[in-house]
Amino acid sequence: MTDAPTGPRHVAIIMDGNGRWAQQRGRPRLLGHRAGARRVREIVEACPDFGVEYVTIFAFSTENWKRTQAEVSGLMTLFRRYIEGEAQNLLKEGVRVRFIGDRVRLDKKLRDLMHWIEALTAHNAKVNLTIALNYGGRDEVARATKRLARDVAAGRLDPEDVCDETLPRYLDTHVLPDPDLVIRTSGEARISNFLLWQSAYAEYEFVDTLWPDFTRARFEEVLARYGGRDRRFGGVRA
Ligand code: FPP
Repeated sequence: MTDAPTGPRHVAIIMDGNGRWAQQRGRPRLLGHRAGARRVREIVEACPDFGVEYVTIFAFSTENWKRTQAEVSGLMTLFRRYIEGEAQNLLKEGVRVRFIGDRVRLDKKLRDLMHWIEALTAHNAKVNLTIALNYGGRDEVARATKRLARDVAAGRLDPEDVCDETLPRYLDTHVLPDPDLVIRTSGEARISNFLLWQSAYAEYEFVDTLWPDFTRARFEEVLARYGGRDRRFGGVRA
């Protein structure tokens, strides 16, 4: 029997705690989000050193529209600035950028930038960064089901062929492997509608560190703990 690789190939991250980080400093929540954006660069750049090929980050959920208008529009501005400001660095670092989530509700300027950076980095292959923006796991499954139903109605898909291998082809993540490890920062132990289908057999790590404090060293510690996990995917140890 050959040794299985010890590191996760795909890490998904719920970047929680930006608001509290800012609050602890008596600063506006948006400052925490800006600090969080800087951490994204550090963690993405660390991935190749740890053998992580795919990193998927939860930037804005389908539920985050419930926040104040000021916070929502501040976050949208931050996403635009991130794409514009990081483009050259992402290109240089060999990062391929993709987005998952429903783009329809996002403004056109942001949608155009998302499309632009996806095309710009499409030939990169060192790290695959997927940004979940206006993303919700239930919403994704519902949208996938709608597309699948259209194929059935049009006679392109036989209902008898619908199975757990068919549906993922309709998910936003259809080109990505399932996450091996899901990390949530800030001490909350819930998954908040993130990658519900894809994380069926993922390992979870809930860490107390607030996202803006989640350094490369913290990331390395979490990855080391993953190396000790015994993943059986419903089977038994050989
Ligand atoms: C959750 O923390 C965080 C978010 C809803 C936004 C995540 C966004 C970033 C890290 C900004 C940068 C991202 C990119 C892709 C540039 P919270 O605000 O819920 O924190 P709290 O629970 O302490 O209030």
